[in-house]
Amino acid sequence: MKVVRTIAELETAPGTGLVPTMGALHDGHVALLRAARQENRTVVMSLFVNPAQFDEPTDLEAYPRDEVRDLEIAESEGVDVVFAPTADELYPPGFASWIDPGETGAEGAARPGHFRGVATVCLKLFNLVRPERAYFGQKDAQQVAVIRRLVRDLNVPVKIRVVPTVRDADGLALSSRNGRLSAEERECALGLPRALSSAVGAPDPIAAARGSLNGLVPEYVELLDLGDVKVLAAAIRVGSTRLIDNVLLEGELA
Ligand code: PAJ
Repeated sequence: MKVVRTIAELETAPGTGLVPTMGALHDGHVALLRAARQENRTVVMSLFVNPAQFDEPTDLEAYPRDEVRDLEIAESEGVDVVFAPTADELYPPGFASWIDPGETGAEGAARPGHFRGVATVCLKLFNLVRPERAYFGQKDAQQVAVIRRLVRDLNVPVKIRVVPTVRDADGLALSSRNGRLSAEERECALGLPRALSSAVGAPDPIAAARGSLNGLVPEYVELLDLGDVKVLAAAIRVGSTRLIDNVLLEGELA
């Protein structure tokens, strides 16, 4: 496995699958790496904590980083190249061109500037790596919607694959931020996946989810159309940790 830190060293090849990550890898990321490994000759994983997508500076500082462990996981999942640039490499002095992702739903409203940062870095990664396919998790459903629209609107020659959300045995969606939850907070956070899954099949899923949150106050509960699928998505804050989750209501992920 090659670890590449500069754009100059990065090579492109036909039949490449790209898995963009911010590191702190868990089994959700691993599911993306495995899907990419199955379908592509070359697998490139990017590892970059993108400052441009953090709407809260404290969240950027607190973001977990463990490159040694991440590289071990990438290697054991058969990744060919890890692209791990510095912030200066992707945002050199004078950087000024940003992607405006348009309407980004309740998640975008809750995190001003977040999807502008995500869309910009993903387009840069697509241009640098030139993947045939790129892999994203269902867990971040609004992100999938933004990336699919970006690729369609700007005619980016990449196929976007969406991998189902990986959960812990108790049902909590894996997230790099889960480590910040105390045992008590985690118990509370479990109300989110429970409420969402109980709303599947209900005549009014939004009302059903809101009704089963048992006193948890969601930031939002909304329906999202990802093209081939519809999901019910919600966000809650538990202590100082913000968690998002969603469930499939209609369709199948592709
Ligand atoms: P990050 O949070 O590291 O997530 C990288 C990819 O893993 C995303 O596509 C995310 O949806 C997916 N993922 C995270 N948790 C998952 C889970 N429990 N099950 C399945 N997939 C999961 O998302 C980002 O980084 C960034 O915004 C990025 C796309 C890398 C751009 O900076």
